[in-house]
Amino acid sequence: MERLDKIIAVSFLLSRKDAKKAIKSGEVRVNGMVVTDVGFKAAPDTVTYGGKTAEYKEYIYLMMNKPQGVISASEGGSEKTVVDLVPDSLRRNGLFPAGRLDKDTVGFVLITDDGAFAHDILSPKKHIEKTYFVKTDKPIPPDLPDKFKQGVVLYDGTQCMSADMQITGKTECTVKIKEGKYHQIKRMFRVNGLLVVYLKRTAMGGLLLDETLAEGACRELTAEELKMIKGEPLSS
Ligand code: URA
Repeated sequence: MERLDKIIAVSFLLSRKDAKKAIKSGEVRVNGMVVTDVGFKAAPDTVTYGGKTAEYKEYIYLMMNKPQGVISASEGGSEKTVVDLVPDSLRRNGLFPAGRLDKDTVGFVLITDDGAFAHDILSPKKHIEKTYFVKTDKPIPPDLPDKFKQGVVLYDGTQCMSADMQITGKTECTVKIKEGKYHQIKRMFRVNGLLVVYLKRTAMGGLLLDETLAEGACRELTAEELKMIKGEPLSS
């Protein structure tokens, strides 16, 4: 059971103000009866507006393939944000990116309005790995995976948690980290004498970036995919 104004706003992508207006003007029905009380509590599947039944989801979870040049924020002033790229059909109030990628980093960004979920998947205590594909300016020394495993100490003395690195080419590798310190991957390489020249997040937890998503595009995640992020068992 939810408030009628919330159901209408979320289901039909209206502002709370417009949802209230629609209810007060008698355009909303509950079980076929007009209800004009905006705070009336109803089961979403009993609510209609303009003849359409409400499709209420408390929260929305989007996978975006972030392009370069866009910032990971909800509001960017003159700068374009990942939330600006969300199409109207998926847009709702309160969307934000769960975790930040740098402006020049591309790949998987999760955009949601569920603060608790975002907190959960970002907390280093939850040990949810974020996987990055990295290209460097110079060949990667063969002992770097060991150094990453031991936990890199950044220039400012910050101790990073153990990270897993797989070298995939002379100047290419994948790195998995369980935390999200500011510019962490770039700084982990920098302190080891390498510059990151390309950075792409390819997975969050057990969920890979959908490579069919064009850069700048996004799609809704299924409940199973959300479980894959958290590493929870899937229903059979
Ligand atoms: N590490 C970085 O340095 N940058 C990112 O965008 C993400 C991880």
